[in-house]
Amino acid sequence: MNRLFAVLWTLTCCCSPGIAQNAAGWWKTTSVYQIYPRSFYDTDGDGLGDLSGIIQKLDHVKELGFETIWISPFFKSPQRDFGYDISDYRSIAPEYGDMETCLKLIDEIHKRDMKVVFDLVMNHTSDEHSWFKESASSKDNPKADWYVWKDGTGKDGRKPPNNWKATIGGSGWHWHEGRKQFYWASFLEFQPDLNYSNPEVKKAMLDVARFWLSKGVDGFRLDIFNSIYEDTSFQNNPASLRIIPSEETPDGFFQKMKYNVNQEGSFRFATELRAVVDSFQNPERFMVGEVFGDVETTKKFCSYDDKNGLHTIFLFQTLSTPFKAKKWRKTIEHFEENFPMPFVPTYVFSNHDRRRSITPLGNDVRKAKLMALLQFTVRGIPFTYYGEEIGIEKPTLPLKTGLDPLAQRYKSIPQFMVNWTGQSLNRDECRTPMQWDTTENAGFTSGTPWLPVNENFGKKNVKTESEDPNSLLSCYKQLLKTRNENVVLEKGELTLDDEHCSSKVLAFYRELESEKFLVLLNFSSNQVKLKDVSGKILFSTSRTELKEELEPFEGRILKIN
Ligand code: GLC
Repeated sequence: MNRLFAVLWTLTCCCSPGIAQNAAGWWKTTSVYQIYPRSFYDTDGDGLGDLSGIIQKLDHVKELGFETIWISPFFKSPQRDFGYDISDYRSIAPEYGDMETCLKLIDEIHKRDMKVVFDLVMNHTSDEHSWFKESASSKDNPKADWYVWKDGTGKDGRKPPNNWKATIGGSGWHWHEGRKQFYWASFLEFQPDLNYSNPEVKKAMLDVARFWLSKGVDGFRLDIFNSIYEDTSFQNNPASLRIIPSEETPDGFFQKMKYNVNQEGSFRFATELRAVVDSFQNPERFMVGEVFGDVETTKKFCSYDDKNGLHTIFLFQTLSTPFKAKKWRKTIEHFEENFPMPFVPTYVFSNHDRRRSITPLGNDVRKAKLMALLQFTVRGIPFTYYGEEIGIEKPTLPLKTGLDPLAQRYKSIPQFMVNWTGQSLNRDECRTPMQWDTTENAGFTSGTPWLPVNENFGKKNVKTESEDPNSLLSCYKQLLKTRNENVVLEKGELTLDDEHCSSKVLAFYRELESEKFLVLLNFSSNQVKLKDVSGKILFSTSRTELKEELEPFEGRILKIN
């Protein structure tokens, strides 16, 4: 563990309860709401959400009780990957707004005493970025080396330089007729990787970070950050038996991603980026990385060579933990063991790439409330994806007609196989419009929405659920209020309560100074009798508040000291 990191954390986090939003270390106790701008709220009737729409709906996020907003990319882009293919990092896509509106958005978020985190795609640009166009124009232009170019192999040089696979399968090398060379793309063909071995590239991208930090942005979510560097020996990757990469390993498609993912250069770059981010203070800024790999590897993104790197990383294991008390116990134990203080784990249940979190729960609102209770009471930063608070479900949208470039890539996979996996290969399914009210298009747009609105929006929408004290939305509000009012839930130590943990119940304590809370979660559909539980019920997901028993799927927060 990096000593410097530990000391800093202790200094900033062990101060008195009720950390103000501007205090150092605010990110350790924050709660994050992710907005996918295209689908949030449309103010000009073009069927796409926009920045003015986010501004108009900020009070929804504030009233829920979130303290930070992460916004997926809205920069200039051909939108082939809906913003994750950027053609100009310093301007706003006209369909979303302009710089003035963007600055107003930052300001309006700050006025509400919330933080704003932008999505920074550093690994690649769009192939329509002027840098790439210049780089591709010849082998000797000033930006010739800004991307990862290599000669091909084989008789006519038309075979890829090595066997490296993209993170989504298939060769990541793409032939460029103009340069008669291959360029490397970790993700899709139109997203060429920048060459960070070139100091000019590194400087240009650190300047992009500086640009937004100086505009007042409080931090960044860093897109596929473990693909930033490639090994410059360009050796072939070794074979592997793994077919599909997972949260724990990027290996897949029958190879170990030894030379193109999780490279030392990327760990070091995290520390360089941290130094830039730390040069902006008042308030302190924050970074969370999208990385995949085993614990030992991914931790290096947070501290490397005795230097601080990213503040935290997404721990995606939460996305695949089944709805079972024992499995969640294991996940929490794993996080506590491997990411103990001063690390702050993250708890994320869905995002713009993953299926809607209520769907694997059989769309059962009681289970969704229980999971929300877990997310807001466990030690870590909760990330909530827009619509999760009203229980937006995953619709079935066929791969064939998917707008998502991944859906287009996989469209030859038979639909029945996709349905069988239960996963979203078509990411349109997790990006459908926010459901605001019962009017046409759920109040999202006066035009034609870019993706269909879920059919049951009449029941599941912000307006209807706000008026129902038993709704999922009301549960989120009360939970966040409980979390925000009790610093022990944000900063307290977590210990599992062996006495109450069972195959049905997950139980843990949160403790800070003289305060002690007990959190009980019943993962079963039966009532569970409780032994020796006393204390004041601060919150329960089922409003019956029987003292001696937990209701089916009830989650409860007790103050015992
Ligand atoms: C990340 C993003 C995803 C995007 C990809 C390429 O995984 O979350 O939406 O398509 O990177 O930028």
